[in-house]
Amino acid sequence: MEDLQNIQSRVMQAISDASDLAELDQVRVSALGKKGEVSLLMRTLGSMSPDERKKFGPRLNTLKDELNKAVLLRREALETELLNTRLASETLDVTLPPLSRPMGSIHPVSQVFAEVTAIFADMGFVTATGPDIETDFYNFTALNFPPKHPARDMHDTFFFEPKEDGTRKLLRTHTSPVQIRTLQAAARQAEKSGSELDPIRIIAPGRTYRCDSDQTHTPMFHQVEGLVIDKTTHMGHLKGCLQDFISAFFERDVSSRFRPHHFPFTEPSAEMDIGYERKGDEILIGQGEQWMEILGCGMVHPEVLRLSGVDPDIYQGFAFGVGIDRLAMLKYGIPDLRDFFACDQRWLQHYGFSPINQPNLATGLS
Ligand code: DAH
Repeated sequence: MEDLQNIQSRVMQAISDASDLAELDQVRVSALGKKGEVSLLMRTLGSMSPDERKKFGPRLNTLKDELNKAVLLRREALETELLNTRLASETLDVTLPPLSRPMGSIHPVSQVFAEVTAIFADMGFVTATGPDIETDFYNFTALNFPPKHPARDMHDTFFFEPKEDGTRKLLRTHTSPVQIRTLQAAARQAEKSGSELDPIRIIAPGRTYRCDSDQTHTPMFHQVEGLVIDKTTHMGHLKGCLQDFISAFFERDVSSRFRPHHFPFTEPSAEMDIGYERKGDEILIGQGEQWMEILGCGMVHPEVLRLSGVDPDIYQGFAFGVGIDRLAMLKYGIPDLRDFFACDQRWLQHYGFSPINQPNLATGLS
């Protein structure tokens, strides 16, 4: 009996002295485990006389129960302690400044697309799109390129393998095919509803492809096409519209001139030049003695209208096409076009734009 008393106080002490869960478990195993002190005593019950067993049995059981209970309580206490230290060490100070995270930037091409779209949207243009993979018909024939016309070669077209019937697809060399798709859709709609052609005022931004590569040419580049068709739009509208566009885009007064040119899909055709001057290494767009070609334009050729099902005796209008990458290089002083598509983080950090400021005419384009 005295031994039991000793065991009880010793183990109880060890339990309350255990400073962590592992230590507590050691104490438990050495007393109550299979080969533990108390378990071994339990085994001696079998060899006792019935009287002794009557005396010791309940006492031993009580001891076991009490030790088990003490272990359980101590374990709970230790676990609570552990949780509290964790909670204390993991508190958040919400008054600390936020961690800075790397933020991506808007690519100059995306920026210029957004700027151009904002300007033309303000003039009532909507955005149209077409596929990058085109047919010869949309890219050339419907735009009034004669079958063996050298302009087809001039475009340095990427062709796909010809199909069995001899036709072959190609990567569009310009965004002008979207003109055709837009005219056709408008003509179909007019025919279906039996009414006049709805006036067309679209821009078509997108990727274009030519087999070409140097400092100012890449095999993939970007253009915006414009198309205005109604009954009265004339060359004066074209000039005013493009003059307004260029000044809005460069965010200053830009002098311009329209020089006669040739495109199969417009008549008359022109190239628009803008004034600039060179100051050292810099090109200052706006005024100045020098002229630089900036875009192609003209009145849509009657044959183009006819081929798309629009009556050129009733409807007329203008079209233009402008290189987006070139606009970006000029406005933001970027010297080499090939860097646009090199995916160099440092270049993007330097020439990219904040994703938070979207270009608009109210608060400024750039
Ligand atoms: N498609 C021409 C090119 O890529 C650009 C162009 C010129 C488009 C005159 C037009 C236009 O719509 O009227 O070189």
